[in-house]
Amino acid sequence: MSELSYPNVNVEEAVRQRYSEGAQAVQPELCCPISYDPKLLEAIPQEVIERDYGCGDLTPHIRPGETVLDLGSGSGKVCFIASQIVGPEGRVIGIDMTDDMLALARRNAPKVARRIGYANVEFRKAAIQDMALDLERLEGRLRTHPVRSTEELAALEAFAAGLRKHEPLIPDESVDAVISNCVLNLVRPEDKKKLFAEIFRVLRPGGRAVISDIVSDEDVPEYLQRDPQLWSGCISGAFREDLFLQEFEQAGFYGISVLSRDAEPWRTVEGTEFRSMTVVAYKGKEGPCWDQKQAVIYCGPFRQVEDDDGHVLRRGVRAAVCEKTFRILSRDPYRSHFELVPPRVEVPLDEAPPFPCSKGALIRHPRETKGQDYHVTTEARATVCTPGNGNGSCC
Ligand SMILES: C[S@@+](CC[C@H](N)C(=O)[O-])C[C@H]1O[C@@H](n2cnc3c(N)ncnc32)[C@H](O)[C@@H]1O
Repeated sequence: MSELSYPNVNVEEAVRQRYSEGAQAVQPELCCPISYDPKLLEAIPQEVIERDYGCGDLTPHIRPGETVLDLGSGSGKVCFIASQIVGPEGRVIGIDMTDDMLALARRNAPKVARRIGYANVEFRKAAIQDMALDLERLEGRLRTHPVRSTEELAALEAFAAGLRKHEPLIPDESVDAVISNCVLNLVRPEDKKKLFAEIFRVLRPGGRAVISDIVSDEDVPEYLQRDPQLWSGCISGAFREDLFLQEFEQAGFYGISVLSRDAEPWRTVEGTEFRSMTVVAYKGKEGPCWDQKQAVIYCGPFRQVEDDDGHVLRRGVRAAVCEKTFRILSRDPYRSHFELVPPRVEVPLDEAPPFPCSKGALIRHPRETKGQDYHVTTEARATVCTPGNGNGSCC
């Protein structure tokens, strides 16, 4: 059996070759039409703009000052847009495994920096499912220590393990936002779990992943998965849409939400629809639970909802939550769905007892947040009842 008949070799090599060609000349069949903010495109050279192989616009979800990591950065277009949004205080790192794509992005980085007035983007070579390993350092070692025997292979593997451990290209918890535009589907099936674990590893607690990818509405049949051309064309490796969200869940993310899902498919192959979907997923629900006497009230419209920790929250009911859940529910993507009820007298975190999060839904009696001895009586609040405010009948 020749090495090319191993399907894994075919997939990765087909991807590299296809995007190497895509770096040198525009490949129209790889493009999904996307419209970005035209003002943010002004500083970006034409050869970058036209080699756009993404499928969604993630850039509205990036914030000033953030450290952003773009997986499969290609020509660098999304990185150059992100660089202007994060501003000089922020930082953008693009990762790609294809030399020609890296060369295209790198030669344009100084031009963009000159036009916007600062340089905050770098492009690095790595496989996105193994972002601790700096592939250029590994290649440097291979040039000086070529591998000709199993002993030399073992030495190379030990060198790679050392790099990952002591000089990780992307360290743990170092990134605010991981973004990726039409790349996750290109990763080999057996590496996909590792890919989600890597995204989780590099994000700081409270960070988020915002990913656009091509998803399918049905399972992609085996024989289509074995077609390297369809694989590199973002078809064969597409996640089934529900399983795409499940991958984030299984990796430990919370607040996973579909930000957009194209109504019309980008392509249909033998009846299976392939379309673009953009998802956000947050990191930071791990850690201990402390009871600071906080409560939340789910406002509806559903009768009840269940969060990613299994808390079932009923509409209109004061649910007792731990300090961590309270903090999570007070931010995106939950904030607009909840009323937050903090205790009248704050319980310092170092005095808070453990909270029994695993016991399911607990109701917080109002006296727990107000205090058992709370006996205040007040007049009606003027802001609501002042006659002449157009709302005078409320009393
Ligand atoms: C469909 S293009 C998308 C490029 C870019 N995100 C855009 O919006 O134009 C896929 C890119 O991901 C890179 N890529 C694919 N698989 C990869 C992997 N496992 N690790 C690193 N880069 C990968 C390819 O080299 C290519 O540049």
